[in-house]
Amino acid sequence: MLKLHVNIDHVATLRQARRGIEPDPVAWARAVEGGGADGITCHLRKDRRHIQDTDLVALRKAVTTLLNLEVSLDEEMVGLALASGADEICIVPENRQEITTEGGLDAIAERGRLAEAVPRFRERGMPVSLFVDPEPDQLEVARALNVEFVELHTGSYANASEGALEEELERLRGGARCAHELGLRVNAGHGLSYDNVQGVLDLPHLEELNIGHSIVSRAVFCGVETAVRDMLRRMGRTVA
Ligand code: PXP
Repeated sequence: MLKLHVNIDHVATLRQARRGIEPDPVAWARAVEGGGADGITCHLRKDRRHIQDTDLVALRKAVTTLLNLEVSLDEEMVGLALASGADEICIVPENRQEITTEGGLDAIAERGRLAEAVPRFRERGMPVSLFVDPEPDQLEVARALNVEFVELHTGSYANASEGALEEELERLRGGARCAHELGLRVNAGHGLSYDNVQGVLDLPHLEELNIGHSIVSRAVFCGVETAVRDMLRRMGRTVA
C-alpha cells in the first residue's frame, strides 16, 4: 500500500505571515491524521521561515502516526534533529534564497558531511532518507552511506512540459529501480498534486509520497480531512 505523508510547513508559513498563533500547524497535523494520512512531514529550516522549534516539540507530542523531519546538514539542524525524537529524518539541501527546496541533495558533494551525520542518526535508531534526484551516481553514494531510504525528487516531473513528461517519468522509474537494486527503500515527493500524482503511482518499489502544497491549497476550500481523503483516493486507496 502506497503511503501518504503530508507536509504541513505551508500551514506554518501562513501563521508566520502574521507572526501569530493561527493557523496552528499542530492542530492541522491532527486533522491530517483524522483524514487518514499515514504520517506528518515538516521541515525545520535554518531561517525558521515556517516551522519553529516549539512546533517540533509540540508535533512530537501530538503526532500519533509517524513524524518525518526534514533538515539540512547544518550542524545546528542536525543537533536539533537528533534531539527531536522524530521517527524518520530526511536530509535535504537548503539555500537561503530559495522559495522551496529546489533540487535534490548533492550527495556526492556532501559525502563528507553525510558520512559524519548519518551514523549519528543510526546510533539513535533514527532511519535516514536522502532527498535526491533520481540519478544512479547519487543513489550509489546513498547506498555507500548506509541510509535506509531515498526520497526521489519529483520536482522536474511536476514542472515538465507535456512533451517532457514521459522522459521525466522514465528517469524516476530508472531511479526507483536502481535504488531498489542497491538495497534502498524508495519514497518520492515535491510538487505533486491532485492532477499529476497519477503519473508516479506506478513507480516501482515506491513506498511513500510526501505531498504538501497541493493538499494545503485544496484544504483552504474544502477542509483538511476532505483534502487528505481526496488525495488518498487519487492514490488508489480505499477511503471510508
Ligand atoms: N519532499 C521534500 C523533501 C520537500 O522538501 C518538500 C517541500 O517542503 C516536499 C516533499 C513537499 O513538496 P510540496 O509542498 O511541493 O508537495
